[in-house]
Amino acid sequence: MPLFDTHAHYQDNAFRQDRRELLEALPAAGVEAVVVPGVDVESSRAALALAEGYGGVYAAVGIHPEDCAGCTDGDFEAVRALCGHPKAVAIGEIGLDYYWKENPPKAFQQEVFRRQLDMALELDLPVVVHDREAHGDCLDIVLAYPGLRGVFHCFSGSPEMAEALLKRGWYLGFDGPITYKNAKRAPEVAAVTPLDRIVVETDAPYLSPVPNRGRRNDSRNLPYIVEKLAEWKGVPPEEMARVTWENGLRLFGLEGLL
Ligand code: NI
Repeated sequence: MPLFDTHAHYQDNAFRQDRRELLEALPAAGVEAVVVPGVDVESSRAALALAEGYGGVYAAVGIHPEDCAGCTDGDFEAVRALCGHPKAVAIGEIGLDYYWKENPPKAFQQEVFRRQLDMALELDLPVVVHDREAHGDCLDIVLAYPGLRGVFHCFSGSPEMAEALLKRGWYLGFDGPITYKNAKRAPEVAAVTPLDRIVVETDAPYLSPVPNRGRRNDSRNLPYIVEKLAEWKGVPPEEMARVTWENGLRLFGLEGLL
């Protein structure tokens, strides 16, 4: 059963020395589809360049809250233009990050987020949402957009927030931290999330799951996440692999392509 890594930053410098070998090795390791998200115009272009080079690689394009300082109308227009690429399957990653004090002011992050949500609705694309320490505002903002669809990447909210999103058709992304001993909320969130709304992500090069915690992450670690979810949901790992593959295809509109 193939695996779908719905979030991996292969344009990151962490992969500069072995990017090609690694991406070429993924299908043999069972990972047959990957979405590479951008965090600004430059990294979105780089994500699309990778998508052009590898069959199973797709891109999300967008401006991340940590990288939005000083972004201009020209940057939004550049993102919009990149959305026209046949392998641009989503706008992302976008959202709110209140964790780092040096991040742009909340009001500005929200404006950047909303502008890209408007664009997603207009272009009929799903979004990949980054929400760090900003659960209330992220939820309020996305719920104000009926018809908006997408995934909360590396979901870290409460089960109640998960339910509010699921009711509106959202997908939830599960990452390496669900394998950490201190994962408290993740099993509760998994419990309320139906199988057909779960996607698995590495967030490579970050967030390596146990037993590779602390090392550079890549999509070959996806089975550790699949196995943990399978255990929590009481299904065989092959079943979890199958549903998350299908969910990834449905989320990003790739059913006909892979
Ligand atoms: Ni990310």
